[in-house]
Amino acid sequence: MMVKKIGILTSGGDAPGLNPVIAGFTRTAIKNGYEVIGFQDGWKGLIEGLIEDLSLERVKEIVQEGGTILGSSRTNPRKVENGFEKILATLKKLDIFAFAACGGDDTLGVAKILNEKGANVVGVPKTIDNDLEATDQTFGFDTSINIAMDAIDRLRTTAKSHHRVFVLELMGRHSGWIALEAGMAGNVNAIIIPEFEFSIDEVCSLLKKRHEGKRTYSIVCVAEGVVFSEMKEKIEKAGTDSFGNILLADLKVGEFLAEEITKRTNLPVRCITLGHIQRGGSPTAYDRYLGLRYGAKAAELIHTGKFGRMASLQGTRIVDVPIEDAVAKRKIVPKEEWLLAKSFFG
Ligand code: F6P
Repeated sequence: MMVKKIGILTSGGDAPGLNPVIAGFTRTAIKNGYEVIGFQDGWKGLIEGLIEDLSLERVKEIVQEGGTILGSSRTNPRKVENGFEKILATLKKLDIFAFAACGGDDTLGVAKILNEKGANVVGVPKTIDNDLEATDQTFGFDTSINIAMDAIDRLRTTAKSHHRVFVLELMGRHSGWIALEAGMAGNVNAIIIPEFEFSIDEVCSLLKKRHEGKRTYSIVCVAEGVVFSEMKEKIEKAGTDSFGNILLADLKVGEFLAEEITKRTNLPVRCITLGHIQRGGSPTAYDRYLGLRYGAKAAELIHTGKFGRMASLQGTRIVDVPIEDAVAKRKIVPKEEWLLAKSFFG
Protein backbone atom coordinates (compact mmCIF):
# COMPACT_ATOMS: atom_id res chain seq x y z
CA MET A 1 0.00 0.00 0.00
CA MET A 2 1.23 3.50 -0.90
CA VAL A 3 2.11 5.63 2.16
CA LYS A 4 0.18 8.91 2.09
CA LYS A 5 2.21 12.12 2.35
CA ILE A 6 1.08 15.01 4.50
CA GLY A 7 2.70 18.37 5.25
CA ILE A 8 2.97 21.18 7.76
CA LEU A 9 3.98 24.82 7.52
CA THR A 10 4.59 27.63 10.01
CA SER A 11 3.74 31.11 8.77
CA GLY A 12 3.69 34.71 10.02
CA GLY A 13 5.59 35.94 13.08
CA ASP A 14 7.14 33.02 14.94
CA ALA A 15 5.82 32.07 18.38
CA PRO A 16 7.43 29.95 21.10
CA GLY A 17 5.69 26.57 20.81
CA LEU A 18 5.94 26.13 17.04
CA ASN A 19 8.50 23.35 17.39
CA PRO A 20 6.32 21.44 19.87
CA VAL A 21 3.47 21.72 17.32
CA ILE A 22 5.73 20.31 14.59
CA ALA A 23 6.84 17.50 16.94
CA GLY A 24 3.28 16.65 18.04
CA PHE A 25 2.07 16.67 14.45
CA THR A 26 4.91 14.56 13.08
CA ARG A 27 4.82 11.95 15.84
CA THR A 28 1.05 11.48 15.61
CA ALA A 29 1.05 11.43 11.81
CA ILE A 30 3.86 8.86 11.62
CA LYS A 31 2.09 6.70 14.21
CA ASN A 32 -0.99 6.85 11.95
CA GLY A 33 1.08 5.63 8.99
CA TYR A 34 1.82 8.87 7.09
CA GLU A 35 5.02 10.27 5.64
CA VAL A 36 5.53 13.86 6.83
CA ILE A 37 6.93 16.78 4.84
CA GLY A 38 7.72 20.24 6.19
CA PHE A 39 7.27 23.30 3.96
CA GLN A 40 9.97 25.89 4.55
CA ASP A 41 9.33 29.56 5.31
CA GLY A 42 5.54 29.55 5.44
CA TRP A 43 3.48 29.94 2.26
CA LYS A 44 6.70 30.65 0.35
CA GLY A 45 7.63 26.98 0.76
CA LEU A 46 4.33 25.80 -0.68
CA ILE A 47 4.46 28.27 -3.55
CA GLU A 48 8.04 27.42 -4.49
CA GLY A 49 8.10 23.76 -3.45
CA LEU A 50 10.72 24.24 -0.71
CA ILE A 51 10.43 21.16 1.49
CA GLU A 52 12.23 18.94 3.95
CA ASP A 53 11.44 15.52 5.37
CA LEU A 54 10.18 15.37 8.92
CA SER A 55 11.20 12.10 10.55
CA LEU A 56 10.93 10.97 14.17
CA GLU A 57 14.67 11.56 14.44
CA ARG A 58 14.34 15.15 13.13
CA VAL A 59 11.69 16.11 15.70
CA LYS A 60 13.13 14.11 18.60
CA GLU A 61 14.80 17.01 20.40
CA ILE A 62 12.95 20.14 19.29
CA VAL A 63 10.19 20.45 21.92
CA GLN A 64 12.28 22.73 24.14
CA GLU A 65 13.52 24.91 21.25
CA GLY A 66 12.09 28.34 20.45
CA GLY A 67 11.45 29.53 16.87
CA THR A 68 10.52 27.06 14.15
CA ILE A 69 12.81 24.50 12.55
CA LEU A 70 10.89 25.04 9.29
CA GLY A 71 11.41 28.80 9.13
CA SER A 72 8.64 31.31 8.64
CA SER A 73 7.78 34.32 6.48
CA ARG A 74 4.99 36.78 5.86
CA THR A 75 4.61 35.74 2.20
CA ASN A 76 1.00 36.29 1.19
CA PRO A 77 -0.19 34.05 -1.70
CA ARG A 78 -2.79 36.72 -2.58
CA LYS A 79 0.07 39.06 -3.46
CA VAL A 80 2.01 36.50 -5.50
CA GLU A 81 1.02 36.12 -9.15
CA ASN A 82 -1.13 32.96 -9.39
CA GLY A 83 -0.17 32.27 -5.76
CA PHE A 84 -3.06 29.92 -5.00
CA GLU A 85 -2.66 28.02 -8.29
CA LYS A 86 1.05 27.58 -7.55
CA ILE A 87 0.22 26.12 -4.12
CA LEU A 88 -2.30 23.66 -5.58
CA ALA A 89 0.25 22.69 -8.24
CA THR A 90 2.96 22.04 -5.60
CA LEU A 91 0.58 19.83 -3.61
CA LYS A 92 -0.24 17.86 -6.76
CA LYS A 93 3.34 17.59 -7.97
CA LEU A 94 4.61 16.38 -4.59
CA ASP A 95 1.56 14.17 -4.14
CA ILE A 96 0.72 15.71 -0.79
CA PHE A 97 -2.68 14.59 0.35
CA ALA A 98 -3.26 17.17 3.10
CA PHE A 99 -1.41 19.70 5.24
CA ALA A 100 -1.57 21.73 8.43
CA ALA A 101 -1.11 25.52 8.45
CA CYS A 102 0.09 27.00 11.77
CA GLY A 103 -0.55 30.68 11.97
CA GLY A 104 -2.57 33.66 13.08
CA ASP A 105 -5.49 35.32 11.32
CA ASP A 106 -3.54 36.17 8.14
CA THR A 107 -2.27 32.60 7.68
CA LEU A 108 -5.58 31.00 8.59
CA GLY A 109 -7.40 33.36 6.21
CA VAL A 110 -5.26 31.92 3.39
CA ALA A 111 -5.89 28.36 4.67
CA LYS A 112 -9.63 28.99 4.54
CA ILE A 113 -9.45 30.10 0.88
CA LEU A 114 -7.33 27.08 -0.03
CA ASN A 115 -9.84 24.79 1.64
CA GLU A 116 -12.61 26.39 -0.43
CA LYS A 117 -10.47 25.78 -3.53
CA GLY A 118 -10.38 22.05 -2.74
CA ALA A 119 -7.11 21.62 -0.81
CA ASN A 120 -7.24 19.43 2.29
CA VAL A 121 -6.13 21.89 4.97
CA VAL A 122 -6.37 21.97 8.75
CA GLY A 123 -5.34 24.84 11.03
CA VAL A 124 -3.36 25.39 14.22
CA PRO A 125 -3.90 28.69 16.10
CA LYS A 126 -0.60 30.51 16.60
CA THR A 127 0.22 34.03 17.75
CA ILE A 128 1.88 35.54 20.76
CA ASP A 129 -0.79 38.27 20.57
CA ASN A 130 -3.55 35.80 21.62
CA ASP A 131 -6.01 37.67 19.40
CA LEU A 132 -7.51 34.69 17.56
CA GLU A 133 -11.16 33.90 18.03
CA ALA A 134 -12.51 30.39 18.47
CA THR A 135 -9.79 29.23 20.83
CA ASP A 136 -9.33 30.11 24.49
CA GLN A 137 -5.58 30.59 24.04
CA THR A 138 -2.97 30.53 21.30
CA PHE A 139 0.43 29.00 22.02
CA GLY A 140 3.30 31.48 22.40
CA PHE A 141 1.22 33.89 24.47
CA ASP A 142 2.16 32.35 27.83
CA THR A 143 5.87 32.57 27.03
CA SER A 144 5.61 36.18 25.88
CA ILE A 145 3.70 37.40 28.94
CA ASN A 146 6.27 35.76 31.20
CA ILE A 147 9.12 37.44 29.31
CA ALA A 148 7.27 40.78 29.51
CA MET A 149 6.57 40.33 33.22
CA ASP A 150 10.24 39.59 33.84
CA ALA A 151 11.15 42.78 31.94
CA ILE A 152 8.77 44.78 34.15
CA ASP A 153 10.30 43.28 37.31
CA ARG A 154 13.77 44.24 36.08
CA LEU A 155 12.72 47.76 35.08
CA ARG A 156 11.18 48.27 38.50
CA THR A 157 14.49 48.13 40.38
CA THR A 158 16.24 50.62 38.12
CA ALA A 159 13.15 52.86 37.91
CA LYS A 160 12.99 52.88 41.70
CA SER A 161 16.69 53.72 42.11
CA HIS A 162 16.46 56.71 39.74
CA HIS A 163 12.86 57.83 40.49
CA ARG A 164 12.07 57.60 36.80
CA VAL A 165 9.03 56.94 34.67
CA PHE A 166 9.43 53.96 32.36
CA VAL A 167 7.22 53.48 29.32
CA LEU A 168 7.36 49.85 28.23
CA GLU A 169 6.04 49.13 24.74
CA LEU A 170 4.86 45.55 24.38
CA MET A 171 3.65 43.62 21.32
CA GLY A 172 -0.04 43.43 20.47
CA ARG A 173 -1.00 44.75 17.10
CA HIS A 174 -4.80 44.66 17.37
CA SER A 175 -5.44 43.40 20.90
CA GLY A 176 -3.80 44.32 24.16
CA TRP A 177 -3.63 40.90 25.81
CA ILE A 178 0.14 40.93 26.37
CA ALA A 179 0.18 44.45 27.87
CA LEU A 180 -2.88 43.71 29.99
CA GLU A 181 -1.80 40.37 31.46
CA ALA A 182 1.92 41.12 31.82
CA GLY A 183 1.10 44.60 33.14
CA MET A 184 -1.30 43.26 35.74
CA ALA A 185 1.09 40.48 36.75
CA GLY A 186 3.93 43.03 36.91
CA ASN A 187 1.82 45.45 38.99
CA VAL A 188 2.44 48.48 36.76
CA ASN A 189 0.82 51.89 37.24
CA ALA A 190 -1.07 52.16 33.95
CA ILE A 191 -1.79 49.91 30.98
CA ILE A 192 -2.85 51.27 27.60
CA ILE A 193 -4.30 48.90 25.01
CA PRO A 194 -5.84 49.36 21.55
CA GLU A 195 -9.34 48.26 22.57
CA PHE A 196 -10.15 51.06 25.05
CA GLU A 197 -9.22 54.71 25.12
CA PHE A 198 -6.92 56.13 27.77
CA SER A 199 -5.59 59.48 26.60
CA ILE A 200 -2.10 60.93 26.99
CA ASP A 201 -3.65 63.63 29.22
CA GLU A 202 -5.06 60.93 31.49
CA VAL A 203 -1.64 59.21 31.68
CA CYS A 204 0.03 62.52 32.49
CA SER A 205 -2.38 63.52 35.23
CA LEU A 206 -2.02 60.05 36.80
CA LEU A 207 1.78 60.44 36.76
CA LYS A 208 1.74 64.00 38.08
CA LYS A 209 -0.43 62.87 40.98
CA ARG A 210 1.88 59.93 41.75
CA HIS A 211 5.09 61.95 41.59
CA GLU A 212 3.98 65.25 43.15
CA GLY A 213 6.27 65.94 46.14
CA LYS A 214 7.41 62.30 46.27
CA ARG A 215 10.61 60.38 45.50
CA THR A 216 8.87 57.72 43.49
CA TYR A 217 8.88 55.92 40.15
CA SER A 218 6.27 54.68 37.66
CA ILE A 219 5.92 52.03 35.00
CA VAL A 220 3.42 52.40 32.15
CA CYS A 221 2.78 49.56 29.68
CA VAL A 222 1.53 50.41 26.22
CA ALA A 223 0.58 47.92 23.51
CA GLU A 224 2.29 48.62 20.19
CA GLY A 225 -1.05 48.86 18.36
CA VAL A 226 -2.34 51.80 20.44
CA VAL A 227 -3.08 54.88 18.36
CA PHE A 228 -3.46 58.16 20.27
CA SER A 229 -5.55 60.91 18.67
CA GLU A 230 -2.33 62.97 18.38
CA MET A 231 -0.84 60.35 16.01
CA LYS A 232 -3.03 60.98 12.92
CA GLU A 233 -0.15 62.35 10.86
CA LYS A 234 2.10 59.38 11.70
CA ILE A 235 -0.65 56.94 10.62
CA GLU A 236 -1.03 58.66 7.25
CA LYS A 237 2.70 58.34 6.60
CA ALA A 238 3.13 54.73 7.84
CA GLY A 239 3.77 51.87 5.40
CA THR A 240 2.00 48.47 5.32
CA ASP A 241 3.13 44.82 5.09
CA SER A 242 2.00 42.23 2.51
CA PHE A 243 -1.18 41.55 4.50
CA GLY A 244 -2.05 45.26 4.65
CA ASN A 245 -1.11 45.67 8.33
CA ILE A 246 0.35 49.06 9.26
CA LEU A 247 4.10 48.85 9.94
CA LEU A 248 4.15 49.51 13.65
CA ALA A 249 7.85 50.27 13.47
CA ASP A 250 6.76 53.45 11.65
CA LEU A 251 4.55 54.48 14.57
CA LYS A 252 6.69 53.68 17.62
CA VAL A 253 3.90 54.47 20.05
CA GLY A 254 6.08 53.89 23.14
CA GLU A 255 8.58 56.53 22.07
CA PHE A 256 5.78 58.89 21.11
CA LEU A 257 4.13 58.50 24.51
CA ALA A 258 7.44 58.92 26.36
CA GLU A 259 8.14 62.15 24.47
CA GLU A 260 4.68 63.52 25.18
CA ILE A 261 4.96 62.67 28.90
CA THR A 262 8.33 64.45 29.05
CA LYS A 263 6.89 67.53 27.34
CA ARG A 264 3.73 67.67 29.41
CA THR A 265 5.05 66.73 32.88
CA ASN A 266 8.78 67.42 32.90
CA LEU A 267 9.31 64.09 34.68
CA PRO A 268 12.41 61.99 33.86
CA VAL A 269 11.13 59.42 31.34
CA ARG A 270 12.75 56.45 29.58
CA CYS A 271 11.18 54.27 26.91
CA ILE A 272 11.87 50.58 26.37
CA THR A 273 10.50 48.70 23.36
CA LEU A 274 10.71 45.02 24.26
CA GLY A 275 10.11 43.95 20.66
CA HIS A 276 11.08 40.52 19.37
CA ILE A 277 12.61 39.45 22.70
CA GLN A 278 8.97 38.63 23.53
CA ARG A 279 8.99 35.99 20.78
CA GLY A 280 12.47 34.60 21.35
CA GLY A 281 13.91 31.75 23.40
CA SER A 282 12.45 28.59 24.87
CA PRO A 283 8.72 28.12 25.25
CA THR A 284 7.28 27.79 28.76
CA ALA A 285 6.04 24.37 29.91
CA TYR A 286 2.50 25.57 29.21
CA ASP A 287 3.30 26.49 25.59
CA ARG A 288 5.29 23.30 25.00
CA TYR A 289 2.44 21.11 26.17
CA LEU A 290 -0.22 23.19 24.39
CA GLY A 291 1.83 23.10 21.18
CA LEU A 292 2.29 19.33 21.37
CA ARG A 293 -1.45 18.83 21.86
CA TYR A 294 -2.37 21.25 19.03
CA GLY A 295 0.05 19.49 16.67
CA ALA A 296 -1.25 16.04 17.56
CA LYS A 297 -4.83 17.25 17.09
CA ALA A 298 -4.03 18.67 13.64
CA ALA A 299 -2.59 15.28 12.56
CA GLU A 300 -5.69 13.56 13.92
CA LEU A 301 -7.97 15.98 12.02
CA ILE A 302 -6.21 15.02 8.80
CA HIS A 303 -6.42 11.31 9.66
CA THR A 304 -10.17 11.56 10.24
CA GLY A 305 -10.76 13.73 7.16
CA LYS A 306 -11.93 16.80 9.10
CA PHE A 307 -10.59 19.37 6.65
CA GLY A 308 -11.27 23.09 6.96
CA ARG A 309 -11.12 22.71 10.74
CA MET A 310 -8.71 24.06 13.34
CA ALA A 311 -7.40 22.63 16.60
CA SER A 312 -8.80 24.74 19.43
CA LEU A 313 -8.49 24.98 23.21
CA GLN A 314 -11.85 25.13 24.98
CA GLY A 315 -11.34 25.27 28.72
CA THR A 316 -8.74 22.56 29.24
CA ARG A 317 -9.77 20.37 26.29
CA ILE A 318 -8.47 20.37 22.74
CA VAL A 319 -11.38 20.27 20.31
CA ASP A 320 -11.86 21.34 16.70
CA VAL A 321 -13.75 24.28 15.17
CA PRO A 322 -14.18 25.56 11.60
CA ILE A 323 -11.15 27.65 10.50
CA GLU A 324 -13.75 30.17 9.41
CA ASP A 325 -14.74 30.83 13.05
CA ALA A 326 -11.16 31.75 13.92
CA VAL A 327 -10.84 34.38 11.21
CA ALA A 328 -14.37 35.82 11.33
CA LYS A 329 -13.38 38.37 13.96
CA ARG A 330 -10.61 39.20 16.41
CA LYS A 331 -10.51 38.19 20.04
CA ILE A 332 -10.26 41.41 21.99
CA VAL A 333 -9.91 42.14 25.69
CA PRO A 334 -13.40 42.22 27.25
CA LYS A 335 -14.53 45.44 28.89
CA GLU A 336 -14.74 43.94 32.38
CA GLU A 337 -11.06 42.93 32.28
CA TRP A 338 -10.08 46.42 31.12
CA LEU A 339 -12.18 48.04 33.85
CA LEU A 340 -10.58 45.83 36.49
CA ALA A 341 -7.10 46.82 35.26
CA LYS A 342 -8.11 50.50 35.18
CA SER A 343 -9.39 50.31 38.76
CA PHE A 344 -5.83 49.28 39.79
CA PHE A 345 -4.10 52.19 37.99
CA GLY A 346 -2.21 54.80 39.98
O1 F6P B 1 1.82 38.85 14.93
C1 F6P B 1 2.65 38.68 16.00
C2 F6P B 1 3.62 39.83 16.13
O2 F6P B 1 4.61 39.45 17.07
C3 F6P B 1 2.97 41.15 16.53
O3 F6P B 1 2.79 41.27 17.91
C4 F6P B 1 3.95 42.15 15.98
O4 F6P B 1 3.33 43.35 15.69
C5 F6P B 1 4.42 41.51 14.73
O5 F6P B 1 4.28 40.12 14.91
C6 F6P B 1 5.85 41.83 14.38
O6 F6P B 1 6.11 41.36 13.12
P1 F6P B 1 7.54 41.21 12.44
O7 F6P B 1 8.19 40.02 13.06
O8 F6P B 1 7.21 40.98 11.02
O9 F6P B 1 8.29 42.44 12.74
